[in-house]
Amino acid sequence: MTLRFGTVSNNILDAIGDTPLLHLDGIYAKIEFLNPSGSIKTHIAKYMIERAEREGLLKPGDTIVEATSGNTGNALSMVAAVKGYRMLVVMPEGLSSERVAISRAFGAEVLFCGNFHVNEALARAKQLGEQPGYFCPSQFESEWNVEENREILGPEILAQLPAGCVPDALVLGVGTGGTLIGVGQAFRAVNPQVRLFAMEPSESCTILCGEIASHTIEGISDGFVPGIFQRHASLVNEVLSVSSVDAVTEMKRLARRHGLFCGPSSGAHMLAAQRIRAKFPELKTVVTVFCDEGEKYLHEYFMLPANMARPASASSWFQMPWLYVIASPQYAMAKPGSSCCAWRNALAASGYSNRCNNKVPRRNAVCAAGECVEVGNEMLPRPAMVCMGAVSCAGVPMDRPAHSIPKISTTR
Ligand SMILES: Cc1ncc(COP(=O)(O)O)c(C=O)c1O
Repeated sequence: MTLRFGTVSNNILDAIGDTPLLHLDGIYAKIEFLNPSGSIKTHIAKYMIERAEREGLLKPGDTIVEATSGNTGNALSMVAAVKGYRMLVVMPEGLSSERVAISRAFGAEVLFCGNFHVNEALARAKQLGEQPGYFCPSQFESEWNVEENREILGPEILAQLPAGCVPDALVLGVGTGGTLIGVGQAFRAVNPQVRLFAMEPSESCTILCGEIASHTIEGISDGFVPGIFQRHASLVNEVLSVSSVDAVTEMKRLARRHGLFCGPSSGAHMLAAQRIRAKFPELKTVVTVFCDEGEKYLHEYFMLPANMARPASASSWFQMPWLYVIASPQYAMAKPGSSCCAWRNALAASGYSNRCNNKVPRRNAVCAAGECVEVGNEMLPRPAMVCMGAVSCAGVPMDRPAHSIPKISTTR
């Protein structure tokens, strides 16, 4: 019998890697969310920490500090727990609460810095990392990140492809860019013609046009073009985008159709890979990665029964028989026409997670009849609505006035 874990180990870090490569709907998908701590990031976490130990940058008693949108924080927290380091995760608010909880479960301290994008967390982690007794791996900058993907993950995928089959394309979202560039380098070594496609959310096309906005493909497009991508951009053939709504829809389909409970970036990766296959039929072997597990998004997408699933567009929210209502005098003071920012700040001040996109008022603003204003970002992870009057949205009247809607729940 050939077993994946044929011998007894005393260390969970031995279970990193050797994940399945599946062929699904014409795409090769590396199932990295099966790694310990639930994401691809276990690879670089172990690699960068052990490298720092060897180079004398990290010593017993030190604290590891890193800026992250969550998964690298989870992975480093796990590695730190196993190796006995203190871990300080610096991350923005407004990301999935599960990822905060997972880092804490591994004994890490979580320091919130900024909102949704990682820029402020990055600056803070860098600053802390310069203090004596701290080590910051700097995942967005470090060539060790690229190196791990080139030396370990890339060759692992190559070894799993059917005999005689070389990759024609690699399609991946850009968080740090480490996976795309490192695995891409490994692929280029066996097929110099392999094409590398970077993917970013269509709401936040930072690489393509410098746009920085909210989206729900957590783990990519963190608010800046990372140093790794900047340094290696010439390796990338094309940048494409996938919308948040499409990514989430595909994420749900992957669970229902293929039994793969993964996060939104996996949905986006699958869609992007399929679009590349359709656009370039000559690219037969298209590879992507499913990066993190769906369990990290339970509260955002999976706590409602299917028949109460959140509608895809803001306008259709108002036709739902149920609504999430946040009732507070604070919100009552908001005036019709208040900016999205005002709502975001009011919600944030009360501890509600939201990601209202500054563009939303123009696109999705809900006009108020009477004093009611609702700014509905259709991709708000936790529905946040303020209803105090009859509402219409984009000409769609509600089936009943907002004030008669029961206060079903607050969504904290
Ligand atoms: C869920 C998810 N998808 C994709 C990525 C992108 O990987 P990379 O940082 O190698 O660009 C990340 C990175 O953190 C991630 O967490």
